[in-house]
Amino acid sequence: MDHMDVNPMGLDGFEFCEFTSPDPDRMAAQLEQFGFVVASRHPTRDVVRYKQGCINLLLNREATGHAADFRRDHGPSASAMAFRVQDAKAAYDNAIAAGAKPAPAGAALDGIPALEGIGGSILYLVDRHGAAGSLYDDWDQVPGAAEAEAENNVGLDLLDHLTHNVRRGQMRTWAEFYGRIFGFEEQKYFDIKGKATGLFSQAMIAPDKAIRIPLNESQDDKSQIEEFIKDYNGEGIQHLALTTPDIFETVEKLRARGVKLQDTIETYYELVDKRVPNHGHDLERLRKNRILIDGNVGEEGLLLQIFTENMFGPIFFEIIQRKGNEGFGNGNFQALYESIELDQIRRGVVTVDA
Ligand SMILES: [Fe+2]
Repeated sequence: MDHMDVNPMGLDGFEFCEFTSPDPDRMAAQLEQFGFVVASRHPTRDVVRYKQGCINLLLNREATGHAADFRRDHGPSASAMAFRVQDAKAAYDNAIAAGAKPAPAGAALDGIPALEGIGGSILYLVDRHGAAGSLYDDWDQVPGAAEAEAENNVGLDLLDHLTHNVRRGQMRTWAEFYGRIFGFEEQKYFDIKGKATGLFSQAMIAPDKAIRIPLNESQDDKSQIEEFIKDYNGEGIQHLALTTPDIFETVEKLRARGVKLQDTIETYYELVDKRVPNHGHDLERLRKNRILIDGNVGEEGLLLQIFTENMFGPIFFEIIQRKGNEGFGNGNFQALYESIELDQIRRGVVTVDA
């Protein structure tokens, strides 16, 4: 196989994720609290590009069109995402030939080649990146944006993965979609069970090893995945994971700004030294910040992560620091699931048979 067969679309990471909200000012404030700044504005559309490190998040406030329809149906939501490809038109044609659906007519910004993505969102194919310049070159650049970013950032750098929640029976459908259209491979399969509910998860990784999409499917009609689908009124992006080179600094800055992060049971920290021997991190600082740690110092490498509470409707963020570990916090997945289920039990959404 030559290189093009391995990576038929020439995928090269995420370009952006687009959000929309009935209360865009609140969403904008949340993005700024999270360390993003407005870097550029679309010259004719009410679309703003927020930037931090290499992460681009668009806020679409257009009064009509796809994003407007999307926020009416879903509330605060992720209306689009974009993959970087080698040749967008060729990638689009190949995707359609392989059975992908085009994005609704007229829905895509600037006529960028676009497919129908998860839950009716738009999946853009962007080839204006790297040596080809930038998608935002024609946008109005905000004066002083670089200085503002240097001031406001919390150290976030890359969009690492973008997890989807799908309806029951659809995990394989979407795994097959990303596999057939883009050459993604199955990375890791999880069967997670809480006290009363459970989920299946299939992590997918693109041939560029930079685009990762875990797919979650409920095992029952009460789990946090089902609750998401009810709240969100459909399938969609559950969380976005953003990398940092120093999770302690990032998390301490976010906490100081009042960003709410998910708690972890105290007993988790009693077991860290045993579960991840010689991890070499300050256990007290981990515990204080509720940061999770996984992997090992040997072959697999370490991974540190923490999750925010729900930020945009039921969508939340993950902060992740990879130290050679390319997984998803396998040992933490169960712990995270249980802590959310505990919250569901407290809220009376889930009941546990005595
Ligand atoms: Fe994640």
